[in-house]
This record gives sequence, C-alpha cells and structure tokens, in this order.
Amino acid sequence: MRWFGWSALSALALSGCDLGVEDERVGGIDNIRLINAGDDPANWITHGGTYSEQRFSPLDQVNRDNVGELGLAWFADMDTARGQEATPLVMDGKLYVTSAWSKVFAFDAATGEPLWSYDPQVPGETGVKACCDVVNRGLAAWGENLFLGTLDGRLIALDRDTGEVAWEKVTVDQSQSYTVTGAPRVIDGKVLIGNGGAEFGVRGYIAAYDALDGEELWRFYTVPGEPDEKDPEYLKAAAETWNGDFWKLGGGGTVWDSMAYDPELDLLYIGVGNGSPWNRAYRSPGGGDNLYLSSIVAIRPETGEYVWHYQTTPGETWDYTATQHIVLADIEIDGRERQVLMQAPKNGFFYVLDRATGEFISAEPYIPLNWATGVDDDGRPIENPETRIDQTGEPALVMPGPLGGHNWHPMAYHPGENLVYIPAFEAAMLYVPQANWKPDPARGFNIGFDMGAGDLPPDLGFRQEVGATVKGRLLAWDPVNQEARWTVEHPGAWNGGLLATGGGLVFQGTQEASFNAYDASNGERLWSFDAQTGVVAPPIAYTVNGEQYVAVLAGWGGALALASDGGIIAKDGAVRNISRLLVFKLGSTAQLPPAPELAKAPLDPPPSRADAATIEVGRAAYARYCSVCHAPGAVGSTVLPDLRRSGALENRMAWQQIVHDGALSGNGMASFEGSLSPEQIEAIRAYVIKRANEDKAMEAELAKQRVARR
Ligand code: HEC
Repeated sequence: MRWFGWSALSALALSGCDLGVEDERVGGIDNIRLINAGDDPANWITHGGTYSEQRFSPLDQVNRDNVGELGLAWFADMDTARGQEATPLVMDGKLYVTSAWSKVFAFDAATGEPLWSYDPQVPGETGVKACCDVVNRGLAAWGENLFLGTLDGRLIALDRDTGEVAWEKVTVDQSQSYTVTGAPRVIDGKVLIGNGGAEFGVRGYIAAYDALDGEELWRFYTVPGEPDEKDPEYLKAAAETWNGDFWKLGGGGTVWDSMAYDPELDLLYIGVGNGSPWNRAYRSPGGGDNLYLSSIVAIRPETGEYVWHYQTTPGETWDYTATQHIVLADIEIDGRERQVLMQAPKNGFFYVLDRATGEFISAEPYIPLNWATGVDDDGRPIENPETRIDQTGEPALVMPGPLGGHNWHPMAYHPGENLVYIPAFEAAMLYVPQANWKPDPARGFNIGFDMGAGDLPPDLGFRQEVGATVKGRLLAWDPVNQEARWTVEHPGAWNGGLLATGGGLVFQGTQEASFNAYDASNGERLWSFDAQTGVVAPPIAYTVNGEQYVAVLAGWGGALALASDGGIIAKDGAVRNISRLLVFKLGSTAQLPPAPELAKAPLDPPPSRADAATIEVGRAAYARYCSVCHAPGAVGSTVLPDLRRSGALENRMAWQQIVHDGALSGNGMASFEGSLSPEQIEAIRAYVIKRANEDKAMEAELAKQRVARR
C-alpha cells in the first residue's frame, strides 16, 4: 500500500541524587509499587513508566549541561532482523526486553551480561496475520513474574529470575487472524491484554486474566456481535449505530496498544482501533457511527464494566484508530485544575478530555489534514464530505492516510514544561473503493479499498516528488493552548518513540539511524549517536548503583518500513535493520562494530514476456496479498526481500514452492494456497518481472544522480 497520494497535498523534578537506595529494593511487584512507580525512577516497572503513561523519568543526572558526555555503555545484538518496538522494563538492576517474534531477553542492567532468554516459538506462518510486522512492544510485571503476549495470541507468565514459564494461556481464537503485539498491563493482580487483526475480519476485545494462574476473569468486546438478548447494555447501544449484517465481517475495533489507568478514579482507559473492513460502505451499509470504533473507552478494571466513551472518528473509514498512546496528567485549563486524558490518534487531532467523565475539552489538528475542518463544541468532527469515500464511490486523496498523523510510537509528557512530545507523521493516501470486494479473512488485506490503485509510475522525478511529501517531525505540543511550541523537522518520516526527563531532555531515535537528545524547552539538538539502523522504539531511563542509564532498542521496521520504500528514494538514504539494544551512560566510550556495507546488486530481471491481461491479474493479486510486506508496486520493502531482486524471479518452480507451497513459511513467508491459485501466483511473478524491468532504467538514473551529488 502507499501511504501517500499522487501529488503533494497543498495546505493542507524530583532530584536524582539519592536514588542509589532504590536500586537495592528487591521483591515482588505489587499494587503499591505500581501506583507509586513515579516515585521510584531507578526502576521502570510498567510499560509507560507509570500508570499515567507519561514516559517521563524524573532522573536528572544526565541533563542539558552534560548530555554531550553521554556514551555507549553496552549493547546487545538481537537474533531477529525485523521491527523492534519494545519498551524495556528495569527492576532491581536487571533489564528485560522483548524483540521481534515475541522473544524475551534478560540482562544485567549495568554491565549487559545476558542472564536468560526465552523464545515462545511462534510459528513462522503467523507472520501473515500481522498487518504491520512481527513486532512486540513489551512486558508487564507482577509479583515475581513477567507477562508476555505472543504474536500467535498467547499470554505467558515467566519467572523473572529464570525465564521459566509459570503458566501459558491462549487468549484468542487461533483459527482467526488475531495477533498480539502490545504490552500487557497489570492492575491489582489482573493481567490485561488486547489483540490486533482488524485488517483481517476479527472482532476486537480486551480481557483480564488472573496473574496467578491465567484464568480469564472478564472480556470486554469493543464492537457488537450478532445481536443477542443477553448482550450488556453498552453493546446493545453500540448495535444501534451499525447497519446490515455487520457481525459477519468481524467489525474490528481491536485494542492492540494503548492503555492507561487512574488508580484514584479506578478507571482503565483503552484505545480502540479501526473498522474491519476499513470501507464503511461494506462494513455497515447505510452508514452509522459504528461504536466503539476509533474511541477511547473507560472501564472498571475489576469487572470490565463500561463507564464512558469518547469517539474520535464516528463512522471511521480511513483506518483512523484511536489506539495511539494515551497520557494522563493534571493540568490547569481556564484557571481550573483538570484531570485530563490526552491522545493524538491517527485522525490528526490532538484531544484533551476530562478523564473522570469523558467530557470533551478541546481538539486541534497537530498535522495538516483534510478529512475534517474542525471539531464542534460537542467534540464531533466536522467532516469534509469530499473525503467520505464510501458514500460518493469516488476515489479521494485524504490526509492523513492510514498510517495517521501519529502511529503507535509513544509520546512523552514533561510536567515541568507542560508539553506533550509527539512523534508526528505526515502522509496522505488515495482511497479507491474496491468494486465487488469479498472478504478473505485468512490472508491479504481485507479493507474494501484497492491497495494497488495508487501505485506510482516508474518515473524517478515523480516518485521523488511524492516521496518528499511524506514527512516526520518531533512536535512539542502545548495541550492547554493546543498549539506547537517548537518543532524539529526530521529528514525521515517514520521516527522513534519518546522519553522526557528531569534533566530537561527529550530522547528520540530516527529513521535516519540516529539516536538524539533535544532540549525539552526549545528542541535544540544537544547530542546524537549513530545507531546504524532506523530506531522506532521508545527509550527509557533508570539507575543502577546511583548511576543513570538511558536504553533504547534499535531496529528498523513496522508498517511503513515493510509497506513502502518510505520516501527513501526521495531522500537518498537507505535504512536497514540491525537489531540491538543500546544502553548509554555518562563518560562511557564503548563502540559498535562497523556497520556492514549496504550494497544492492543492480536490477537484472529476466525479460518481461507476459501479456497485459496476465500482468493485470498479477498486479491486482500482488496489491492485495503481497504489497503489505514487500512494498506497493514491488518497489522494494526496506526490511523484507526486494522481490525484483529475488533469485526465484526467474524460476517458475522456485516461485511456486515459496508462494504456493510455503517453502519459507518458517521464516514468516506463509503459503498462499487457498487464497491464490498457481495461475494467479504465476501472474504475480509476471507482474514483478515487468515492474523490475521498468525500474531497471530508473535505478540507473538514480545512481547517476547520486554520483553527480558527490
Ligand atoms: C506477512 C508478510 C508477507 C507477505 C504478505 C508476503 N510475504 Fe513474501 N516474504 C516474507 C518474508 C518474511 C520473506 C523472507 C523469508 C525468509 O527470510 O526466508 C519473504 C520472502 C519471499 C520470497 C523469497 C524472496 C527471496 O529471498 O528470494 C518470495 C518470492 C516472496 N516472499 C513472494 C511473495 C509473494 C508473491 C507474496 C504475495 C502473494 C508475498 N511474498 C507475501 C513475508 C511476506
């Protein structure tokens, strides 16, 4: 899929001195420790740092004045070369991190000595169920255990000291395309986990499991199923906002990432995802708001009881999830201290809500957008009818596109500056409704839009122009005045999650393979490290024996990395995946080994001999079934094999063995038998051969440009 349009859219402080004491704290994680996690900055014991998910570390040993002396203390290579999105946890001098394919690693947090590792052996075929890479975002802790959600939908309790499995529970119907990539949270002995799969016809929910034995305690569905007398009231109310036989297509609304918790109000906040399929005309013929898609929902963690909801995008049809990071803070607005919840969901508006009641306080666009002209006093967006593709049937270039104005990459909130830092993203998409769309929940994107309709022609200048419209920036957002206080424009679009610190710093990795520290008050870059690979994961800070460390998991990947060349051609850069954990400390001087050369052999495809009709069959099948991992128009994903260069391209048999028979399924390249016939698979080969020949000339032109620039 392409995450951009045919042309550029126009206008469109605690002190850190005596923290050594905290390091010695040993023992289980309990409610008291979790609720007071903010008073224990030596450790990082829950996903967002605290239940408020502010990702603010009060530590100030590393600060504006001395961050220039920050150096690599230790690093650890991961054994996967896919997207790395995890936030590590640190407890009592040990660091725990997850990697791609849901693996877990434990280290001595000061020295990097490996302590144990755990591989849940997720079957490689599971990769085809994942919309956006085989990532994992982290762990939760309770008692003496850690909790891991695996890509194939299991929740696993591991002994924190040994990595041994305490219990394991399947949390999804594994015959459907559910995946788990998010980090669990634990509240009062209940482990909470949601799931993903809204591109493949699932029905979203979050569930609570007993931390002691994995027993399921409650399950909260976010969208109505087949109407039933016994449905709870909140689902009956939701069903009123859907049309047709909506339950047959699953509905979506998956809870695949964000959660936050307010212990005083005893409310758990969850972010709910997009509809399945995206195109509302197929999902709910005749329209409707389709609750609780794209909503923030408050529920009781004890019982899973519904309390309130706020829908960011009624009747969503553009993949505008509200699963993005939720931050809780107490801030003064119009002279009143307000308990707020803040989110920058995909739809491009930054929301401030009253978290006790769900009352809408304010919303303003944090990136250029065209799907709405604003949000009215009741908090309902004022839609631009020209972008409501499902009603007109006409294609529409919509900003933002399905990757949103902000994706999963966590924000950070600095209470001293009263700023929310947003890893913002800017890319439009041309939405073309797919005529006669039929679901195939087993494989391929099930969205009701033509995934290949906007493929770019093999024209270098044009591609560079479009690539240049895809942008990334670090925004320091003032949530009271709803405006940016400062902005850092990044050369690459898909950048890392954030950490703010008491040392007046904001840390962020980038697509351009740097890891940086910025002045939290004005965005000045104070320090930078060459990470050799794109960084998308968020950093954390902790101390051991009174010394502050900053850690980040490096390793390029995720949706944009797989499903686009990311404007790479335009920016003349190249991102690759070198997956490793990087840990920094003042005065350290460790070095990474030199980065391997990134040399691609020139394109040398077999001649294109197939007829136009065959190539068209291949194009359509490629768009739906292959583009999400191997990049739209076969332009070459930045993480997975570039099919234009595959040795199998000239070998019909080898191609069938891989794509039909699943010869590489153990490595994440599932068999497409059942979805695609051998003839269609052969047509895809013909299409890729044609594309490779087209791009061959363009590549030569690009090489010339590069030489000229040197
Ligand atoms: C869910 C992600 C995903 C999808 C969708 C996908 N692939 Fe793959 N593909 C992979 C991965 C991962 C590999 C690398 C496997 C390995 O390392 O052995 C791969 C490898 C391949 C290879 C071998 C390339 C080489 O190294 O020479 C071919 C050919 C291929 N895919 C074709 C296809 C075709 C055709 C489609 C669509 C019908 C498709 N793939 C859809 C993930 C995917």
